[in-house]
Amino acid sequence: MSNYLDTTHDVYKEAALTPDVGLCCTTNPIWELPGLKIPRIMQEMNYGCGSTVHARDLTNNPKMLYVGVGGGMELLQFAYFNREKNGVIGIDVVDEMLEASRKNFKEAEELNPWFKSEFIELKKGDAMNLPVADNSIDVAAQNCLFNIFKADDLKKAIAEMYRVLKPHGRLVMSDPTCEQQMNDELRNDDRLRALCLSGSLPIADYVKMLTDAGFGTIEIRARKPYRILDPLHYPTDEIIYIESIEVAAIKDPMPVDGPCIFTGKAAIYYGEDDFFDDQAGHVLLKNQPLAICDKTALALASLNRHDLFISESTYHYDGGGCC
Ligand SMILES: C[S@@+](CC[C@H](N)C(=O)[O-])C[C@H]1O[C@@H](n2cnc3c(N)ncnc32)[C@H](O)[C@@H]1O
Repeated sequence: MSNYLDTTHDVYKEAALTPDVGLCCTTNPIWELPGLKIPRIMQEMNYGCGSTVHARDLTNNPKMLYVGVGGGMELLQFAYFNREKNGVIGIDVVDEMLEASRKNFKEAEELNPWFKSEFIELKKGDAMNLPVADNSIDVAAQNCLFNIFKADDLKKAIAEMYRVLKPHGRLVMSDPTCEQQMNDELRNDDRLRALCLSGSLPIADYVKMLTDAGFGTIEIRARKPYRILDPLHYPTDEIIYIESIEVAAIKDPMPVDGPCIFTGKAAIYYGEDDFFDDQAGHVLLKNQPLAICDKTALALASLNRHDLFISESTYHYDGGGCC
């Protein structure tokens, strides 16, 4: 085990034994659904930086996997949609975190009459070597873990998620990202990395790691302010702005002309006809937005039509359209 992974282990052992309310966590509301109550301790141990629980991924009783369990809040939220014995597999490399989440699930049973701890199968394991069968998972998730990994380890962790997902299965993630160059002192600070502050990549690099692993469709679902690293408190000469994103990587076959990356762009046709057909699978009804991937946005823009509007990326893609 290399050094930064040892430090990461120690940081999360400590965070399992003594909940650290300020660790990770962002502006996301702790959402609760009818009949779903989140125990206070799970809220205090919310070490994620966004949400990976999206109702639209969770129809038809998906088999779910969650890597890096933390206090267990998102596993409970996933179990709400599935409610089957071992419906959600939770994996963590830190014994104390597995133990803490096990205890938290017992508390969740008290608050939620529908919930049983047996809905969640907790297993000790490493994100880089998952104890999970090939092609067995519909929805896999990780929140605020992969940003900690250095490039080679990140590559392994993503490849593992790809391996265990069924065809068309989804990897749903939330992680910090940063568009600025970070200096080596920040990058090599094992503790800041473990605290999800100095490992983050620019969005394009993060997405490339996913498409290089074979995911044919990527959806950027949210992009939010996360943290500031300032010269007074961190080894940096400039202010560094960190955001967090929510991303889904879908194990669709890779299109021959490259991945479909949805960043929230739409096309609107406003010409004389009732619709515009680009003969490449996109029919734009007059004055109605069609969500398009970045590849299609480029192709449509290159037509140089005066009656076609292409919007900027919102980084809040929430479905619709195809390419
Ligand atoms: C930042 S916390 C996020 C916890 C949880 N996902 C959440 O949103 O609250 C990272 C989690 O990953 C676990 N972890 C750290 N290294 C890991 C590894 N190599 N494999 C699996 N889990 C790991 C930690 O114990 C911790 O539970």
